Amino acid sequence: MKVIIRKNSAESSLWTAHYIAAKINEKAARTDEPFVIGLCTGSTPIETYAELIRMVKAGEVSFKNVISFNMDEYVGLPESHPESYHSFMHKYLFDHIDEPAGNIHILNGNAPDPVKECEDYEKAIVAAGGFDLFLGGIGEDGHIAFNEPFSSLESRTRVVTLTQDTREVNSRFFDNDPEKVPAQAMSVGVATVLSAKEVVIMAYGSKKARAIAAAIEGPMSHYCTVSALQAHPAGTIVCDEAAVGELKVNSYRYFKAVEAAEAK
Ligand code: GLP
Repeated sequence: MKVIIRKNSAESSLWTAHYIAAKINEKAARTDEPFVIGLCTGSTPIETYAELIRMVKAGEVSFKNVISFNMDEYVGLPESHPESYHSFMHKYLFDHIDEPAGNIHILNGNAPDPVKECEDYEKAIVAAGGFDLFLGGIGEDGHIAFNEPFSSLESRTRVVTLTQDTREVNSRFFDNDPEKVPAQAMSVGVATVLSAKEVVIMAYGSKKARAIAAAIEGPMSHYCTVSALQAHPAGTIVCDEAAVGELKVNSYRYFKAVEAAEAK
């Protein structure tokens, strides 16, 4: 696992956007096959998406041959609801880039047969060729996508029940009323994320510090599902200084030293 540490979320987001663009460009230079990416929602990716939008407009990267799959969606929330992940993705990314509409995949939280919807999603990911890169954020309890504590680290796309903690944290988008946050969601599984050739996780702010310390220094555990990244051969966590505030000093120095050595 690599840990990239930047001063603040703005610098971390620039690093992430430029890294993703470089990966898209690198694949486009060697093959006509599409670049398949997993995408996330939340406040964390907003600045990264803003930089990717700028880069698309400046001609520095194109999403014309990118296929995306979002990691999760609430169950039962209308797609047109301002807090649906459909609305979020269009507002903060898809409406401003050149990714063809047919390449965009987001789970349908209102599907008449939710089990089939989740199974079909996994099949569509495989049909697209599998993920080149999965971009994710984390919850305060270390959940990745909506893989709450005690989710199987072998899980695949399915319907999940949100914890009360997550509903309380996410209630800031629902009039501060946890009861208005849907009780369930559809989410890719931990194993779906780890099936990607590469995983990049972003975490900013002191509220993520405990989860980041558990993910990096703690044991791999279903209690903190992002810790499963420890078993991935190409996992990167991008943090601001606040999010690494609970790491041991020696861990912090190690990751800084690795980055400095690789930059030479
Ligand atoms: C939700 C999403 C996660 C996201 C998390 C963190 O729970 N399901 O995918 O990582 O929120 O959100 P934020 O980036 O706003 O802290």
